[in-house]
Formats: sequence, C-alpha cells, structure tokens
Amino acid sequence: MYRIAVLPGDGIGREIIPVAVHILKRTADLFRLNLQIEYGLISEEAYAREGHPLPPSTLTLCQNSVAVLLGAVGSPEMDRLPPELRPERAALLPLRKELGLYANFRPVKIFPELIPASPLKKEIIENVDLVVIRELTGGLYFGEKSRVKTAEGEEIASDLLAYSTMEIRRILHFAFTVARQRRQKLTSVDKANVLTSSQLWRETAEELSQDYPEVVLEHMYVDNCAMQLVKNPAQFDVIVTENMFGDILTDQASVLNGSLGMLPSASLGGETGLFEPAHGSAPDIAGQDIANPIAAILSTALLFRYSLQHEAAAQAIEAAVARVLAAGYRTPDLYTEGTTRVGTEEMGALVARFLTAG
Ligand code: IPM
Ligand code: MG
Repeated sequence: MYRIAVLPGDGIGREIIPVAVHILKRTADLFRLNLQIEYGLISEEAYAREGHPLPPSTLTLCQNSVAVLLGAVGSPEMDRLPPELRPERAALLPLRKELGLYANFRPVKIFPELIPASPLKKEIIENVDLVVIRELTGGLYFGEKSRVKTAEGEEIASDLLAYSTMEIRRILHFAFTVARQRRQKLTSVDKANVLTSSQLWRETAEELSQDYPEVVLEHMYVDNCAMQLVKNPAQFDVIVTENMFGDILTDQASVLNGSLGMLPSASLGGETGLFEPAHGSAPDIAGQDIANPIAAILSTALLFRYSLQHEAAAQAIEAAVARVLAAGYRTPDLYTEGTTRVGTEEMGALVARFLTAG
C-alpha cells in the first residue's frame, strides 16, 4: 500500500488536482496498485484554518507519505500577508527543503499534435526532447536575505547566491546519472563569466565529469541558454542549473510545447517525492473550468515512474494524454483552428477514457 499526500493549494490547483487524482486512482486500479490518498492543507486554506500556510500537520503528512501531489500556491489574498508568511516562501520552499528535494526534474518532449500551438516554427521544435534539472534547495532562493536602512534613509535589499561543493556535487551527480540513461549529453548552465558561485559550479562539474566518461559535458552561460532554447532547442538533452536560472529557463522551455500548462515536474532526492505542475495558481483564470490539467496529469505519471517505480503505469498515462491530443481535444491555452475546445473537467474525463493498461 502506498500513501500519497494530496495538497490542492490555491487557484487552479483546486480544479486540476481533482482531475489528476481521478487519473491517479484509475491508473492504480488498472495496475492493481493500492493507494491510500490523504488530503492536506497548504497556503490559503491552511492559513485560514491553522494559522500558517504550511502547518505541522501537513508537513508530517507529507513526511509520512511516499509521494506528494501538489497543485499550486499563491493567491491575491495571500499576497497581502508579509513576505515571510506568503505561501511561496513560507510553504512551498520549506516543503521542498524539509523533504530534502534538491533535484527538480522538468521534461519537455514535443507532442507532434501540439506543434501548431507552439509559438515557434515546426522545424525548430519537432525534435525537442529535453529535461531541465533544476537545483531546488539552494542558491538565490535560499541564501541569506536582508533589508536594511542606511543613515541616509536609503534602503538596501539583498539575496545571497551561495552554493557549497556538496550541494553542487549532488545535483550534478543526479544530472550525470540522468544524462547517462538518455542521449549522454549534459549542458551545465551557469554565469561563470561573472558569478563566483558559478565558477565553483563549473569547476565541480569538470571534476565530476571524470566519473562519467560516457557523458559529454558542455558549459553554457545562462543568457546564451535562454537564446538557444528558442533558436535551437533540439540541441539539448539534459540541462542542469542553479535554482533561479532553472525557474526562469523552465517557464521558457514549457512553451515549446505550446503552453506552460503542459509542463510537469518531479522534485526528488529525498525519501518522499513531490510532484507538481510547473505552473502557478493562475488566479486570473481560476474557477472557470478552463485551466489545462495536463501538466498535473503528467505529474502523476512522474509520480508512478519515480516514487512508485512503476514505468508501465507512467507510460499508460502519457499515452492516454497523447491519444486525447491526437483526437483533437484542447483546453483554451492550446486551442488552434480545427481542434475541439474542452474545459478542465472534460479534458480529465477524456484522459481517463483513453487510459488503458497497455
Ligand atoms: C516553480 C514556481 C515556484 C518557484 C514559485 C511558485 C515559488 O515558479 O515551481 O517554478 O519559483 O520555484
Ligand atoms: Mg517557476
């Protein structure tokens, strides 16, 4: 029996997570897996009921589960709180940190049917199959923060970008291992022409590459990488990078497939895995049944693959999504002429209908 914690969170998280849970259950039934699903509070509801966006009960639930399925956090209500109580900083980041999830895995593989929905040309994106591995518990997000007033009445704010060799090594080991199982090319993205932390990153990557002779390591500056992701994204196999660089580059990489609503993620490295769509809570479209649930659904595929080690179940979900897209169904973010527009719930029902064991 596998215990799965489910945290819908805010905004469209409350619409896409029920859909994803339905797929999770259907898949478990198909493959005769016994899941024990337990819901937990995070962000707005947690703050309202328990006085904190990440209450101890939620953290304990997650720590005692094999995997966590998370929707999204962030809302206009919560934005009114002081920064240290906002859900991004007080719930999501501590959850990642407490669970030891230093490796965030975001795969971008083109669905041929979605090429017309992409802002880029067919020739540029048709062979894209890449994964970004984002360091998730260090760097700019977690470095010391301060705000001080000077005698002159100025204010100075700072966020520290710090990495230890241990932190760099473990994420690079993770990335080399992933690259070894794929096309054996690893692009380490940094800003070593300016940043000291990037210099240590680059030296450490060079050192570690001795242990992975079958993987070709290249280094790329982050500004160049942003450009290459739109100019020639098919050149990439595995990209590994610092926390904030990875945050920015993955939003950009997601639209190769037409929409941020297509990008799933797995956060790994601890005993519990955390699975969440890479997009946010999108309060502007919440409650209208128009959000794309596919990133959340594909996150459940990653949950089967990486936390339950069930490759067949993962592939079944991915195949069901591909079939629904091939049949022409699209949520509004992916709509192009000649396709059939459907809402969040209907998209979920379609994926469930197309789901088979093999
Ligand atoms: C992501 C999101 C989060 C991040 C936000 C919600 C804090 O953008 O998972 O990419 O920046 O890590
Ligand atoms: Mg992001």
